[in-house]
Amino acid sequence: MVPILVAQDGEVIDGRLRHEIAVEHGLTCPKILVGRLTDEDRADLRLAVNLYRRHLTQAQVRELVAWDLRRRPEASDRCVAKRTGVNHRTVAGVRRSLEERGEILHLPERAGADGKRYPVVITNGEPQARAAARLLHELGEDAPDGHVNVRTLKTLAHKKRVEAEASGPEAELPTNITIIRADVMKYDWSPYEGRARLAIVDAPWERDDDLPRALAEICHKVLAENGVACVYSGQASMPAWLEAFGRMLKYEWLLVSLNTGDGKVRCHGAAKTPICSAFRPILVFSKGVLRSEKMIQDVLRVPADKGNHPQGWDQPSEEVRRLVDTFTAVGDLVVSPCCGVNTAVGVVACAGREFVGVDADVQVVKLARRRVAEAVKPR
Ligand SMILES: C[S@@+](CC[C@H](N)C(=O)[O-])C[C@H]1O[C@@H](n2cnc3c(N)ncnc32)[C@H](O)[C@@H]1O
Repeated sequence: MVPILVAQDGEVIDGRLRHEIAVEHGLTCPKILVGRLTDEDRADLRLAVNLYRRHLTQAQVRELVAWDLRRRPEASDRCVAKRTGVNHRTVAGVRRSLEERGEILHLPERAGADGKRYPVVITNGEPQARAAARLLHELGEDAPDGHVNVRTLKTLAHKKRVEAEASGPEAELPTNITIIRADVMKYDWSPYEGRARLAIVDAPWERDDDLPRALAEICHKVLAENGVACVYSGQASMPAWLEAFGRMLKYEWLLVSLNTGDGKVRCHGAAKTPICSAFRPILVFSKGVLRSEKMIQDVLRVPADKGNHPQGWDQPSEEVRRLVDTFTAVGDLVVSPCCGVNTAVGVVACAGREFVGVDADVQVVKLARRRVAEAVKPR
């Protein structure tokens, strides 16, 4: 009788039916115990046993090779050939058709018998496979090992770009623009007391600490009479921001930020249900009376321009530009505690304003200074 193959933990690798019949009839079946098998080893063993024992048609052999290639596209043709018991030219042919159909990615290098592993990118069609190849090239040595998807590669490539950009020297800024690294709660805001026409606040939304109250106090201190504070609050943490700012300033209005493009986020907030949120609230407070020469459009529909903030927290800079344009005039002071990158870029896109931005993150500040210096450079 052909022995059954059993892993050390008792899982039957080959001969399940024979095993069941033997158990049913109280027979002893010859067994080969194979020790310490990973999931991949088990799949390899099943593949080998199936290929060698069964009389497969050419199409079935190609299908098995395709299955093995989909599982480990990084393996060299010769490795797959050895595993499946076919000629390596057959493997190359099957690989080509899978690559043409976008089922596996064309990898310039593959893992051979040396065991060195290269990333395996799960792609969904040819355009994604091309994007993955470009991202792998960009990541070079920083590409991760093992199975990844294109989204992960995009995030890693973005992080690498941001880090490269932030690693350079500090950029010089014009005298009307200050962007500094500091904790807003420790920063000395006295030089700006009562001078700002607009404060833009986009702090981490769901932090359970004194930040909302501290920021409300800062805004109250720096705003001039009838000055305005625009506060990005998120949905779930809106009550905390309303409460903190409502104590110091007068609540005026809710602006709705409808970002087009990839502005939609799947957020959980306080609720257990996932919510696909297509807008973000901006709470408007005033220190006195909300006065604006310009008509205020309370639904802001601008394209999302994500991709600047190292943690992916960007607000669209065009949206910020509109806020500055609506609430301030040339010569006015705009402050932004927790300014990030895009908020700073958006403020300076409105020419002639004085700007003070503060952020605690060294990388963010370097990036903000660079992007702002670039944006205000005379052309
Ligand atoms: C939501 S992000 C702001 C994103 C920004 N609007 C943009 O478009 O890039 C919040 C920022 O607050 C900064 N931050 C958090 N706590 C801070 C603190 N105590 N003092 C200063 N900055 C802080 C973070 O470094 C982060 O850049």
